[in-house]
Formats: sequence, C-alpha cells, structure tokens
Amino acid sequence: MNDKQLVALHAARQVHNDMVVGLGTGSTANYFIEELARRQTEENLHVTTVASSVVSTIKAQQLGLRVVSMEHISHIDLYVDGADEVTPELTLLKGRGSDLVREKLLARAADHFIAVVDRSKLVAHIGEKFPIPIEVIPFAWRLAKHTLEQIGGQGDLRKNGDGLAVTSHGSLVLDMVFDPELDASILDAALNATPGVVEHGIFTGLTGVVLIAHEGQIEERRAP
Ligand code: A5P
Repeated sequence: MNDKQLVALHAARQVHNDMVVGLGTGSTANYFIEELARRQTEENLHVTTVASSVVSTIKAQQLGLRVVSMEHISHIDLYVDGADEVTPELTLLKGRGSDLVREKLLARAADHFIAVVDRSKLVAHIGEKFPIPIEVIPFAWRLAKHTLEQIGGQGDLRKNGDGLAVTSHGSLVLDMVFDPELDASILDAALNATPGVVEHGIFTGLTGVVLIAHEGQIEERRAP
C-alpha cells in the first residue's frame, strides 16, 4: 500500500453512518472514494456524497455511491480531499485539477475538513512548488491578469493541449507566481478582492486536520 492510499484509508475511518461526505479530486481522493465504496459493500456503511468535480462524481457513481448534486446541500459533515501544498500553518494550495469553486465551497461547508497528503506536499510557504491557480471569468481574464501583475504576479492562462484549460464552472485559469515573501493570508485577501476572479487555490483557515503519510506512518497535524 502506498502512502496516498494509506492516508486515504485512515481518513475513511472517520466516516460514519448517515453522514453527508464531500469527495475530493485527485489520486489520494480517489483512494478515499474507493474505500467508501468498499465499506458500503462490505460493512453496510450508509452515506450520501457530494463531489468536488465531474471526474469524482463519475467515479463515485460507477462504484455505487449515492451522489447528490451541490444545489441540494447547505452543509456537509465531512470533506476529505488532497492538496498540492501544505504550509506549517496548515494553509493549503489546491487546484491543480480544475474545480476550485466546488473544492472551496465544500471546504467551507464542511463541519470537518480533513486534508490527506503525503510528505512531498509539505512546503515552507504557499507557491513554493506550484504557481497559484486563479480561476477567472473568461471575458475578464486580461483585466484580472493586469490587476494581479500590479501586485507582482507573473504568469499566464493554463493550457490544455493546443487549447486553454476550462474549469467545470466554465472559467479560465491563470497560473500566477508571486513574491515568496508575500504572506499567504495577504495574497488570499488580495485575490478575493480582485474583480473577475471567481476563486483561487489558497485555502486559509479552512482545514481542521491534515493527515500526512510518510513511509507507512501517519502524522496528524491540527489547526490551532
Ligand atoms: C485538485 O484540484 C487538487 O486540489 C488536488 O487535491 C491535488 O491535486 C491532489 O492530488 P493528488 O492527491 O493526486 O496528489
């Protein structure tokens, strides 16, 4: 069993009957979805799920999980998802997939949000390994990019093959690099205040617990 699978299975033990559970996106979240389906079949676990992406919706449905669409829920019990970066303050960078809006909605709607990662995701500061994904309204992308450049951002629209990447929300994604000295909470606020930005990948103060797997062991870090 690899570390991503180990940590996903550990998180799946936090799921109890009759919970409404948010499903993340990515390889670690996939292991979580598979484990929920296994528990449903073998342990008669009864859960309702809501997915953070089209791909996770399809996977959960194919495995026989009950999936409701987001417009039917106002809160969820638990959200389990991976992350691309995790800082010592438990700020996350997410969004290498293309479903930032749904991911942040579920993170905010959840009574408990458990992030599941392996040690490769630990960083000293947000943006250390990846640019910040910033989802923008298509007609506003140049205006939003210009505003972001005024606070030191550099980057461009995310590509998908010969075309542009489009999120499941129908937006474009700017992948932008900022000054590493810029505090994540300040950058978070600046992005929130940028007209044309629909959502972005910095998740500040949303995660209660981060489970970190490394060589078969799991470390649990809790938000203060
Ligand atoms: C999806 O948009 C991201 O936020 C994922 O959570 C992230 O890419 C984690 O992927 P892995 O679990 O495959 O590392």
